[in-house]
Amino acid sequence: MINQLWTRLLFLALVCSILSCSELQEGKVLKLAHGLDVKHPVHGGMVYMAQDLEKRSGGKLKIQIYPSGQLGSERQCLELLQIGSLDMTKVSAAPLENFSPKTKVLSLPYIFRDEDHAWEVFNGDIGKELLVGAEEFWLRGLVFYDAGSRSFYTKDRPINSPADLKGLKIRVQNSQTALQMVSALGGSPTPISFGELYTSLQQGVVDGAENNAPSFYTSRHYEVCKYYSIDEHAVVPDVLLIGTSTWNRLSVQEQEWLQAAADASVTEQRKLWKVANQEALDKVIEAGVEIIYPDKAPFSDQVSEIYESYKDNPEIFSLIERIRSIQ
Ligand code: GCU
Repeated sequence: MINQLWTRLLFLALVCSILSCSELQEGKVLKLAHGLDVKHPVHGGMVYMAQDLEKRSGGKLKIQIYPSGQLGSERQCLELLQIGSLDMTKVSAAPLENFSPKTKVLSLPYIFRDEDHAWEVFNGDIGKELLVGAEEFWLRGLVFYDAGSRSFYTKDRPINSPADLKGLKIRVQNSQTALQMVSALGGSPTPISFGELYTSLQQGVVDGAENNAPSFYTSRHYEVCKYYSIDEHAVVPDVLLIGTSTWNRLSVQEQEWLQAAADASVTEQRKLWKVANQEALDKVIEAGVEIIYPDKAPFSDQVSEIYESYKDNPEIFSLIERIRSIQ
């Protein structure tokens, strides 16, 4: 009797490992991992997408979300997608440049004139080329999410001009473009993953970092950094991706459901963003953060050397010119 029970259990474990447990549930379940907090408006956009997908597909296709870096850093999640161990992720376009090099154009400082210009690019031909172009690297971009603009926050002194960055260790994302930008502005760039940043700020490994207001707030970095200088040096979007091995396993119908749900979630996410951005600023001010609005001209003047350096890189340089020519 006991022997029979053990044989059955063993068989079940074997079937589970072959099929993967998610396929034993009703409907197909895609696993999506990302690094943001559940209160973040980009997480809210993905929750909306998951609900929309379940409705659209009549429960045949679902998404299970693993937030807050539970399954690893953005770089690790992208690698898991490439080898087919994770279905979907949401990352900043900044670390994506290590996998799909043309996306680095999205992290260039002051490349966009304003928010409308940025969304013309994300929603237009260039945006589509960059999303689908990642397929060459086993990653397929589905949509861009609004991640506002990035600005510096520091522990001990406010940043009023690039001169104030001199000698400061500033955390950057895992991105050559971000490193180049902080160096051009006079700071010392230090790449650290988002999940390790709170402790690094607290322990003085770095003197500051840079991000949008909802991330500054939901990560609680404002508890350590009391100066937020809105220089808006980069408008780096977030990107929702699926591994090509998962994408190619979906039927055409399932691909359509997923793309439609992702598209619908962008409209919702952008609404959530507007509210969360203002709320984040109000909350950090309430917590004693000083907000500085520096003159942006000295910052944008100082990064012009980066654009010069791309004259030797025709692929990126032509993208820069195309972006600039969009009205
Ligand atoms: C933003 C972005 C995240 C990214 C983070 C960072 O918050 O939405 O995807 O991880 O910046 O600076 O690492």
